[in-house]
Formats: sequence, structure tokens, C-alpha cells
Amino acid sequence: MHCSVKSVILLALTSIAIQYTAIRTLTSKPFQLCPLPNPQNCGLAGQDTEPPSERAAAAGGGCDELPNLSVNATRKTHILILATTRSGSSFIGQLLNQHQDVFYLFEPLYHVQTALLPRLSTSRFATERRLMLGASRDLLRSICSCDLYFLESYIKPTPANHTTDKLFRRGVSQALCQQPVCDAFGPAAVNVEEGECIKKCGSLNMTLATEACRKKRNVAIKIVRVPEIEDLRALVEDPRLNIKVIQLVRDPRGILSSRIETFRDAYRLWRIWRATGRRPYNLDLSPFTVLCDDYISSISTGLSHPSWLKGKYMLVRYEDLARNPLAKTKEIYDYLGLSIDKNVEDWIQANTQGANEPSTKHKFSTVRDSAANAESWRLKLSYDMVEYTQTVCPKIFPQLGYKTVRSAEELKNMSLSLVQDKSFVPFL
Ligand SMILES: *[C@@H]1O[C@H](CO)[C@@H](O)[C@H](O)[C@H]1NC(C)=O
Ligand SMILES: *[C@@H]1O[C@H](CO)[C@@H](O)[C@H](O)[C@H]1NC(C)=O
Ligand SMILES: *[C@@H]1O[C@H](CO)[C@@H](O)[C@H](O)[C@H]1NC(C)=O
Ligand SMILES: *[C@@H]1O[C@H](CO)[C@@H](O)[C@H](O)[C@H]1NC(C)=O
Ligand SMILES: *[C@@H]1O[C@H](CO)[C@@H](O)[C@H](O)[C@H]1NC(C)=O
Repeated sequence: MHCSVKSVILLALTSIAIQYTAIRTLTSKPFQLCPLPNPQNCGLAGQDTEPPSERAAAAGGGCDELPNLSVNATRKTHILILATTRSGSSFIGQLLNQHQDVFYLFEPLYHVQTALLPRLSTSRFATERRLMLGASRDLLRSICSCDLYFLESYIKPTPANHTTDKLFRRGVSQALCQQPVCDAFGPAAVNVEEGECIKKCGSLNMTLATEACRKKRNVAIKIVRVPEIEDLRALVEDPRLNIKVIQLVRDPRGILSSRIETFRDAYRLWRIWRATGRRPYNLDLSPFTVLCDDYISSISTGLSHPSWLKGKYMLVRYEDLARNPLAKTKEIYDYLGLSIDKNVEDWIQANTQGANEPSTKHKFSTVRDSAANAESWRLKLSYDMVEYTQTVCPKIFPQLGYKTVRSAEELKNMSLSLVQDKSFVPFL
């Protein structure tokens, strides 16, 4: 058993290495780091018209020929939303996605995982996790500079003629459901619904997507497949990028509860526990401990304010966003140096006012009654489960200001909030 697991990993690692090398060779390498005496001349504002890969090929792959940024002093902001699954990242993603001047992608690293690791979960093995990160950083760097052709290398089946209908959750990106990418909703399209976009927009033309990306002043990318902020350091320090990280955290007990509802197979034993009241002897705790470990190291790094993160880091608790969406969104936009627009305000209004209908029609739909939803896990998990998770990762709760409970009464008494007031100001 042990042996076969090892050989599977070994095989997986070898195949990652081979595939990744193939991808690197197939695509030109426009984004290697070069020393840049003047970052002003090596920026990424969307002024150029030819695809970056061709541009880089023409320039022999060097950095010298990157566009002259001072032509337009407005630099693109590259927003990375660093989160974990079921932590409210779709919600925060929407707050940026709805903005007219943001090009938003929902978890493009999904394609890296499916291309390189189709059968294994990234969260489980440390070695393969590290290997994935190099590929992930390359892809993020490309997307930040609107080189969306690079993404095609990971999409299966490989897009022909720069056209695909397999981009993961394409319909979530407003920019990919509007002109010039999609004409179906006319020139004034806002808040296009995901299903409608998929139905009416047809295949995605990556050339047009690239054009749309370049026209927007900002790029925002939601990522749940990068475990720690330190893993993003190479991007944060890249002088050609203007990265701003938003690290989204949520009470791990809430994440667990949400995952039990959503990932029914992976969390089957947790559901048995919940249904029978007895903890299965073979319960796999690793997804939970991995989550805690990643939080601990990521947050310790972020909150210790290393100089490389100066001006580029903000920690957001999902619960704060849920309780006070508009005020928190304004704080986020202030940190990003952008102004909130009407589309965003309208979206908040429409999606957080607690309409009574249950909104579970879609696995990943953002919440309706956001505040109640953020603490609803307390009614769904048994006290035993909660107590157990509290002992498994004790450090994270005080650090993030989540109160642990000592009795079932405390857990179920919703007039006692378990979210302590704690302010996390951006590191400026
Ligand atoms: C960049 O563009 C500005 C404005 O057109 C120009 O003044 C400057 O000389 C250019 N810099 C380089 C290195 O070409
Ligand atoms: C791609 O474009 C070429 C030239 O227009 C065409 O011959 C080919 O059939 C297209 N391939 C696909 C898969 O659409
Ligand atoms: C994609 O859009 C570009 C730019 O408008 C166009 O030249 C190209 O023909 C389109 N590709 C397909 C397959 O329609
Ligand atoms: C700079 O780029 C932004 C966004 O692409 C655009 O709105 C603005 O008009 C440009 N400014 C100049 C001086 O070209
Ligand atoms: C819930 O907590 C409140 C506030 O501490 C307390 O007044 C109330 O009695 C509690 N309710 C129950 C049912 O324990």
C-alpha cells in the first residue's frame, strides 16, 4: 500500500516535470526575470497591439522591448485574491468582477491542476504542491500581462485557432460576457448571469479576451490553489507587475461546514459523523490540518509585515465582509487605489439584502443573506465536531479573532457572536 502510493506520486511528479517542460518549450518564454534599471520602461499597460508572445519572439525573448509605460502613466493594478475553497472567495471575487474597469478571472489555476495533476489533489503532498507552484506563477504572470494565449497550453482539449469553450467558469467573468468578447447582451451589458453567458456567447475567442483584458485598467485573479503568500513572493517582487494581494480568510469551522455540504465525496466521512454522532475511526483529517497550517504560515508572514509586502497586502475576514459588505468593500477599494463604481454598489445591494428564497441553486453561487450565512455553520455542525476541530488547530482561532466554544449551548446560541471585533488594516 505504502509502496504503491509512493510510486503513484513518483509517476505523477515525473509526468508533471515532462509536461511542464513541454509547455515551457512550446510557448516562448517572454517573462523571465531580467534586471530592470528603470521599471517605468518595462511595464505592462495595455498600449501594445501585438500579442506578447510574438512581441517577445521578435525581441529575442528579452525584456528591453517591453512597452514604454510612461506613454501612459496609469499602471495596471494586478489584484490577486488569495483564498481557499469555500471561504467566501466567490463573493469577494464578485466585488471586483462587477467593476467596469476590472478584468476578472475565476481560478485559472484550475487548468494548471487538471493539466498537470489530473488525478491527485494538490493539497495532499508537499513535493507535488511545490512543483505546481512554478507553473502557477508563470501562468499568473502571463495573465497579469494579458497574455491569455499562454493559458491555452493548459486547457484540454487544446484550443484550435485561439478559440475554446472549455475555459473554467468563463461565464463568471463579466469581461468575457461583454463586448468586445461577446455581443449577445449589447453595449451596456452589466451583471450578466453565468448560465446566460455560456448559453448566448458561444465559444471564447482568446484573441478578443486578450483585447478585453488590455482595455481594462486592472486585472483581478481569484486563486485557491496557492497555499501560502510566500509562494507569491516572486510575483510580488517582479518590478514589471503591480501586484496587490488580498488574503481572504474565514473561520475554519465555517469552511469545514461549507465543504461538507459542497464536496460530498471527499467529505463523506464527516457527513457520516454528523449524521450518526460518532466520529469514524478512519476520518481523514489532512484537508483540515493542511488548511490550518497554510493559514498559520501565510498569516504569520502577512501580518509580520515583511518589506516585500509593503503596500501590497491586506487581510480580509469573510465575516467582516458579510456583516458590513459596503463599508468593507470601500476599504478594499481604497487599499487598491481604485474607486468603487455603481455596478459594484448595485451588486452588493442585490446580493446581500437577505432575500428569503434559499440560494443553493448553484454550488458556488454567492450568498444572499450574507451575514446570516457566514455563521450558519454553527447550526450545521455538531458540538463534537466543532470541539474536535478546535483542538486540531488551536492557534488559528485567537490569531484571527474567532472565539472557540466550550459547550453546545454556546455554539448554538446565535445571539453570541463568535467573531470578535478585530481590525486588520492594509499594510501601507
Ligand atoms: C517613453 O514614452 C515617453 C512619452 O512618449 C517618451 O518621452 C520617452 O522618451 C519614452 N521612453 C523610451 C525609453 O522610449
Ligand atoms: C482553424 O482555422 C483554419 C484556417 O481558417 C481552418 O482551416 C481550420 O479548420 C480551423 N480549425 C478549427 C478546429 O476550427
Ligand atoms: C477571433 O477574433 C479575432 C479578432 O477579432 C479575429 O481576427 C478571429 O478571426 C477570431 N477567431 C475566430 C476563430 O473567430
Ligand atoms: C491611460 O489608460 C487608461 C486605461 O487604459 C485610459 O483610460 C486613459 O485615457 C489613458 N491615458 C492616456 C493619457 O492615454
Ligand atoms: C444566549 O446568550 C445570551 C447572551 O449572553 C444570553 O442572555 C441568553 O440567555 C443565552 N440563551 C440561551 C438559550 O442560553
